[in-house]
Amino acid sequence: MTSQKLGVCYYPEHWDESLWAEDAARMRAIGLHHVRIGEFAWSRLEPSRGSYDFEWLRRAIDLLHRHGLRVVLGTPTATPPKWLVDEMPDMTALDAEGRERKFGSRRHYCFSHEGYARECERIVERLACEFGAHPGVAAWQTDNEYGCHDTVESYSPAALQAFRRWCAAKYGSIDALNRAWGNVFWSMELSDFDEIELPNLTVTEPNPSHRLDFRRFSSDQVIAFNRRQTEIIRRHSPGRPILHNFMGSFTAFDHFALSADLDAAAWDSYPLGYLERSRRDEHFKSRYMRVGDPDYQAFHHDLYRACGGGRWWVMEQQPGVVNWAPWNPAPADGAVRLWSFEAFAAGAEVVSFFRWRQAPFAQEQMHEGLLRPDSEPNRGFAEAARVARELEATNARVETRRSQVALVFDYESAWAWEIQPQGQDFTYLELTLAFYRALRRAGLSVDIVPPSAEAIADRKLVLAPGLFAPRADFIAALAASDGALLLGPRSGSKTPDFRIATPMPPGGLRALIDVTARRVESLRPSAKIAVAEPGGFEHWREYPDIGENVSVELACADGEAALMRSGEVFYLAGWPDDGLLFEIVRRLLARVQLAALDLPEHIRIRDNGETRYVFNYGREPADVSELVRGRPLAMGAVTLEPCGVTIALAPDIDAAGA
Ligand code: GAL
Repeated sequence: MTSQKLGVCYYPEHWDESLWAEDAARMRAIGLHHVRIGEFAWSRLEPSRGSYDFEWLRRAIDLLHRHGLRVVLGTPTATPPKWLVDEMPDMTALDAEGRERKFGSRRHYCFSHEGYARECERIVERLACEFGAHPGVAAWQTDNEYGCHDTVESYSPAALQAFRRWCAAKYGSIDALNRAWGNVFWSMELSDFDEIELPNLTVTEPNPSHRLDFRRFSSDQVIAFNRRQTEIIRRHSPGRPILHNFMGSFTAFDHFALSADLDAAAWDSYPLGYLERSRRDEHFKSRYMRVGDPDYQAFHHDLYRACGGGRWWVMEQQPGVVNWAPWNPAPADGAVRLWSFEAFAAGAEVVSFFRWRQAPFAQEQMHEGLLRPDSEPNRGFAEAARVARELEATNARVETRRSQVALVFDYESAWAWEIQPQGQDFTYLELTLAFYRALRRAGLSVDIVPPSAEAIADRKLVLAPGLFAPRADFIAALAASDGALLLGPRSGSKTPDFRIATPMPPGGLRALIDVTARRVESLRPSAKIAVAEPGGFEHWREYPDIGENVSVELACADGEAALMRSGEVFYLAGWPDDGLLFEIVRRLLARVQLAALDLPEHIRIRDNGETRYVFNYGREPADVSELVRGRPLAMGAVTLEPCGVTIALAPDIDAAGA
């Protein structure tokens, strides 16, 4: 098992070269091992067409390598330089309003522009030739945060042409497309693939089938764009892992599919920025404003671990105040350390801070780094150094033990419910996150998995809420599974073409449990449907008819079934509030004989293999002796300070037996 390491994001091109050696020496001195560089440097690597300048980068990589640092080299394709955009003005994306997304920040390109894709191949090839075999280059990052700033979808002429080709390849005949999309409705029928338009600027909403195919197409374009880079890098830099840095709350392309071309997944974790941007209420936000949502990071750690097939990093870890949320508070003392261990507990190979030194210029000048702009240490510096020492002291190793509980996550479902939420607060990510929170509250460490047979094999419990159109092979795998299964709300309610399933929802899943949602409704925020004490449905509710072998486990106050069961398959007919959801999770865990705790909101645990991590996101010290009873402690104490982390080893049989 590899040991867990820290890293940092560094921009040698931002600083006078006279600073580099001291920077590298200080990185090593505080125990950093990895340095990500280069991902925005195209204007310095190729200041004008064909005049490459790799020498400064070589000096930087040589120097970092001499200091014992392992370089993660980024491809610079998120920031095409001005001369390139001027040469090919049609390479920029158009937004849904038809406006150009211009040069002057970053990500100003359209994934479907073939000319730009070739330019990317050219610069990536040159970079990979120059540095692919350099002993200091340990890994690669493709581009930077695909889709950031809402850039997956483009409504450009290049996207239109590519979408028409994509539809022709998918449907073969325009009649098949007309049938699949239901184009007879409102006389939307087409007689040729060349008549297809992009689903924007229509008078009222475009056809949901059209939109879903456009989402699938846009996702495929990102995947193809990335693959062109990974193929080149693999040729010139064999054996070095290729990663990409994903984001939080971001579902605009299929991250499972894209990750198939990577060696490991990574994501950029900014707990405070994401909390400020989230839809949590004011009370929650002010309570956790300096530590972040206790479940949000862990959810994404688990999601991206699944994307990377078990291998994953945090490529950018918030080190202090950021600049991009509506409000940008300072982390509590200890929060940077807490976040780092939450990632390592979930099996991260590397946690890399963003960034080394705060830039005093340009867009991100208010974003802190480990160092202040004057090179003095900022708060995160000492915490990073402490984490490095503690990783050494505990001999921390990557562990990703398979959990007995799996929560299914499906990107197409996220797109479907965005296209047709039916109630404006129905969000797939929030729905799955709500289930995740309830499982964490119960003390469970779960795997988030794609809808595939392999991913759900041998689980005691599988939860698959909101899965819009499960494929027949996945339904068969669910049917064959021995564990308990929770479906609903909205599971199986559409076909892949985006029609209401007939037989009625849950469609093909009725083979598993004989229920029919005869009617559905969405609920305004003030409306609650009472179910069990203390709880009820919010946002969404279904009126089910039930077959003979189905029992009603929980009912609504008006007598309609809320939770139904047939054998080990459960169907939930609404979006449960926190109280009801926890009650359901508790029942399911009891059924599969897994112990359920009821942790306070600010105390969280993670079991990974035999090791148990305990975290305190609260503002007061907490006694966690019950959670680590009978286990020797590798780090921390039974009284957990605010932002504290305790690591407990395998239960000590002698001590427990004594
Ligand atoms: C990330 C991005 C970085 C930087 C950072 C600031 O989204 O990858 O380049 O902008 O945010 O928090």
